[in-house]
Amino acid sequence: MKTIAVINAAQLVTLAGPRRARIGEEMSDVAVVNDGGMLIRDGMVAATGTSAQIKRAAPADAEIIDVNGRVVLPGFVDAHAHPVFGGNRVDEFEMRARGASYEEIAASGGGIRSTMRRTRAATEAELEQQALQHLRRFIACGTTTLEAKSGYGLSVDDELKMLRVIRSLGDNSGIEVVPTFLGAHAVPPEYEGNIAGYAELVMNEMLPRVVAEDLAEYCDIFCEHGYFDSDIARRILKDAKRQGLQLRMHVDQLTNSGGAALAAELGATTADHLEQTEHDGIAALKAANVQPVLLPGSVYSLGKTRYPRARDMIETGLAVVLATDFNPGSSPTPSIPMVLSLAATHMKMTPAEGVTAATINAAYSLGRGDKIGSLEPGKVANFAIFDCEDFRELAYYFGIPQTHSVYVRGERIFGL
Ligand code: NIG
Ligand code: FE
Repeated sequence: MKTIAVINAAQLVTLAGPRRARIGEEMSDVAVVNDGGMLIRDGMVAATGTSAQIKRAAPADAEIIDVNGRVVLPGFVDAHAHPVFGGNRVDEFEMRARGASYEEIAASGGGIRSTMRRTRAATEAELEQQALQHLRRFIACGTTTLEAKSGYGLSVDDELKMLRVIRSLGDNSGIEVVPTFLGAHAVPPEYEGNIAGYAELVMNEMLPRVVAEDLAEYCDIFCEHGYFDSDIARRILKDAKRQGLQLRMHVDQLTNSGGAALAAELGATTADHLEQTEHDGIAALKAANVQPVLLPGSVYSLGKTRYPRARDMIETGLAVVLATDFNPGSSPTPSIPMVLSLAATHMKMTPAEGVTAATINAAYSLGRGDKIGSLEPGKVANFAIFDCEDFRELAYYFGIPQTHSVYVRGERIFGL
């Protein structure tokens, strides 16, 4: 049995607490052990405590990781990302810098459809190579679990291709990847003007294959005017649920189309984006116990100013999650620390609330709260060491990496 003793952490941020997602005031308590340490046995957390306690408890042959006054956190759990795609959209980024809007670019054939063309043209191996490069950057920012959506294939073969790439990322990247089927991300050109026909394809051909080949845990949809309205979203998601998938949803991002209420009605696990959601939508999420996943990176990168109402959500008692929404169009950042910065400056979430939202609450939103998201005995030893003395510095400094090293199951996957 291999034992590792992590010692001399200025702060060991454990997130220890109730065995459920954290709400209200609980989000402010990240359970810091000052001058902390941790014992790891066979890749699992065996004990946490002060560094002195851990040194006493460690067997003589334990491997020592001397953190040297740095900060240790659970690895970040990024619960909303689109890391598999062909090419990038740097041209559209420049067009937006010159004044075009995301909606205008999409309406003229760019946007999701332009990534669809590049993704269809790429082989599975090419997509995997490109995605592995992105995943190395997630890891370099401290992420150890990543949700990954399909949604740039938009045909039976290309959606299945994306999901197979997502599965092999989980085998080859060093971190756990949670697969989500997003066939209803946009209507592809061959179904232009025939959304109902595309919905049939999603329900009758894509979903049965996804389920039969066990390629996804969740089904997602882009619920938005010009993409999938509430009626068609309801049909597709009810069918996905019947076929055995749980639900995550892109709602109320660009317009308020009652997406939060629909997520509540359908019993979705999460409702994501929510930039335009008002009090009634927030109340509906609370009543149905849906977790909001907030994505300030996409608001920032699209140059918009309306961020989701995080304070109202926390005060209402929602178990808020923060994620990157990493994708080539609206949020090209794999950095949870950047998201913590945006959440603090634009959504008035404290660094502690942000860390809770990107660790334990995110883990529960992915059905993994009993295994990851905090550093407590019995949990998987996924953690990151940062070059700071106070975890709040992660949100305070921005635009620079502060990661020292990253560990999954007690094994170092990044850093020296
Ligand atoms: O979450 N909103 C829809 N999907 C992505 C954007 C996808 C894209 O532009 O490629 C999002 O922001
Ligand atoms: Fe997204």
